[in-house]
Amino acid sequence: MEMTAPSGRNPIDDNRNGLIGKSIDRVDGRLKVTGQATYAYEVQQDTARTAYGFIVEATIAKGRIADIDTTSAEGAPGVLMVMTHKNAPRQGAWGPLEAPNRFARASPQLASDQVRYYGETVAFVVAESFEQARSAAKQVRVRYAQSAGDYEMAGNEAKATKPADTEQGKADSHVGNFEQGFAAAAVKVDATYTTPVHIHAQMEPHATIASWDGDRVTVHCSAQLIDSAQKAVASTLQIAPDKVRIVSRYIGGGFGGKLPVYADVMLSALASRQLQRPVKTALTRQQMFHVTTHRSDTVQRVRLGASADGKLVAIGHDTLSNTARFDNNYENASTQTRTLYAAPNRLTTHRVVQLDLPISDSTRAPGEAVGMLALEQAMDELAEKLGIDPIELRVRNEPTMDPELNIPFSTRQLLRCMKEGAERFGWARRQARPGSVREGRWQIGMGFSTAIRSNLLMDSKCAIALDKQGVLTVRMAMTDIGTGSYTVLSQIAAEMLGLPMERIRMELGDSDFPETPGSGGSWGAASAGSALYDACTNLRAQLARKLGATNAADVRFADGQVSADGKSASIGALAGTVGMKAEGQIKKGDMAKKFSQQGYGAHFAEVAVDMDTGEIRLRRMLGVFTAGRILNMKTATSQATGAMIWGVGSALHEDAVVDPRYGYFVNHDLGEYHVPAHADIPAIEAVFLEEVDDKANPLKIKGVGELGICGAGAAVANAVYNATGVRIREYPLTLDKVL
Ligand code: MOS
Repeated sequence: MEMTAPSGRNPIDDNRNGLIGKSIDRVDGRLKVTGQATYAYEVQQDTARTAYGFIVEATIAKGRIADIDTTSAEGAPGVLMVMTHKNAPRQGAWGPLEAPNRFARASPQLASDQVRYYGETVAFVVAESFEQARSAAKQVRVRYAQSAGDYEMAGNEAKATKPADTEQGKADSHVGNFEQGFAAAAVKVDATYTTPVHIHAQMEPHATIASWDGDRVTVHCSAQLIDSAQKAVASTLQIAPDKVRIVSRYIGGGFGGKLPVYADVMLSALASRQLQRPVKTALTRQQMFHVTTHRSDTVQRVRLGASADGKLVAIGHDTLSNTARFDNNYENASTQTRTLYAAPNRLTTHRVVQLDLPISDSTRAPGEAVGMLALEQAMDELAEKLGIDPIELRVRNEPTMDPELNIPFSTRQLLRCMKEGAERFGWARRQARPGSVREGRWQIGMGFSTAIRSNLLMDSKCAIALDKQGVLTVRMAMTDIGTGSYTVLSQIAAEMLGLPMERIRMELGDSDFPETPGSGGSWGAASAGSALYDACTNLRAQLARKLGATNAADVRFADGQVSADGKSASIGALAGTVGMKAEGQIKKGDMAKKFSQQGYGAHFAEVAVDMDTGEIRLRRMLGVFTAGRILNMKTATSQATGAMIWGVGSALHEDAVVDPRYGYFVNHDLGEYHVPAHADIPAIEAVFLEEVDDKANPLKIKGVGELGICGAGAAVANAVYNATGVRIREYPLTLDKVL
């Protein structure tokens, strides 16, 4: 089916079996906590013949390999192969840059003597054991001819360029006359905010086992996007996509860092072909910082002009970010500013600087996650200048249509989220004057931010099969990156066919299954779920015919029985010994062009700041969201609280620091790159309000994964200001900046 009209009333609305929305525990939860869910590195196959790879990273950020000596490494115990640019097989050229799907691009390894960033692979050692490979890797001697590089945006702003407009987005937008409107505004904020490099820090490191059977390679790896990974490997190895099988059954966190596949995948596949043995490679925690991607740091100038009664007359948001010298991605942090508030004069821009750093790419809620850190502090600054409550300021600037696209919103309940949140949180107790509340040495403050995240639907396919036991097998190249895909998809199938959850066999994460867009950009549940819904609809029609129902709409699917017209049969009996099959698909259609689709929310934070040391402690946090229908309240709120914790990390802790002399991330481990720990997160609560979005997809759901991060950090920053009267525009807010 194609999304060309609002979804009419359907079996998901009816929810006769009560499974949609139910807080069902993860169906894979037991496997995970008992260690039976096998992640890529744990897949056991042909273990006696498996060889181990270890990546040798460049220790300069820019230059050339003048000489590489592998003699000692090759002679080390157990070593089977040392691959360098001198003996690496021919691969597809990098890119192309303008590829519509940048995660499907060729990414050749050891392709030349050039070093383009710190941590780029300069050699790959394969040995009988992991320890032997790692030990031999240390014996590879590289002499470099180093050249000067650019490692920071500071000082390189003049080299910034405007990114190309693509189907995914335009670099700039203009409405009305921003400069005039801003110049004439009675009350203004003109402030620049900076956000640092963010690392994905997934629990499961990137890992691969590659093995060949004839001319076909099977790659077990940790990939969010199975089909993109298949194409990326095929174009790198210069083989047909059907000669590549990608398998990712369980994934220990993605967050955008597993949208592409990296050196571990490509090199394991190449080495395995040469050795005719399975090759297994994992990145070390330290290697993950340079061998994979990160979120670019940003410099964001926000200009808000308002009338004295708090109506915005001009909104401007300019974002500068950076990417690798050889890439073209940018952090689209100004994009949400096109949608969020009403104002007649508007300007948003993005500029990008190419630096000699590893590739910067999608990191949880690319764009909004850091765009909202800037915009929502600016709104707080404006509210203070106007002497208006921050929530009231948003109320006065609530648009009735998308302010730049001039199309209606599919659903938008931002005001309701704010109202409900303010009541639950006790916002009325907030003192507007900063530094007014004290408990002993602690200064206490409350902060607010809006949440917004774009909603996406992508083309997706699904195949299902019903057997005579009434067990339904679902197959899709969809992934579960820890978010609950196995569970919510099982709920959809069980609800549609009236089967108990245990009778759904959900098989995901294999490129041999029907193509999906995978998990990314919060589009997973909507896209794969809608394809599954379509397949179930088709199977229901077959079952209704088999039962001999006069009117398909009257057929009931419950408790494993199919019933209509006083007739009833078990679903397994109808499937018979040959079983029944159905396929389904969703095409994104044009509803996203006709209706502006976003998830919304309101974040509230309370912090305490030590007046002597500047130490900031989060005390409590609440997020109230609307994201269409919720498939499983438990997995959805888990995702939202996880995202809010990301927001806390980006406000208070996370900061990958580039050494401007050497072009590498100094703090490349989880000891030095601090992500929130339990002690950093006290009371935190996420609430989803009721909503159905019939313009989004047949399930009437929206993405929930990334919404919770958007704005969360700004609420914390605004609370710090309210506590102390110190406005910190340089994230993260650390104690040295408070004092
Ligand atoms: Mo997301 S940044 O596509 O996991």
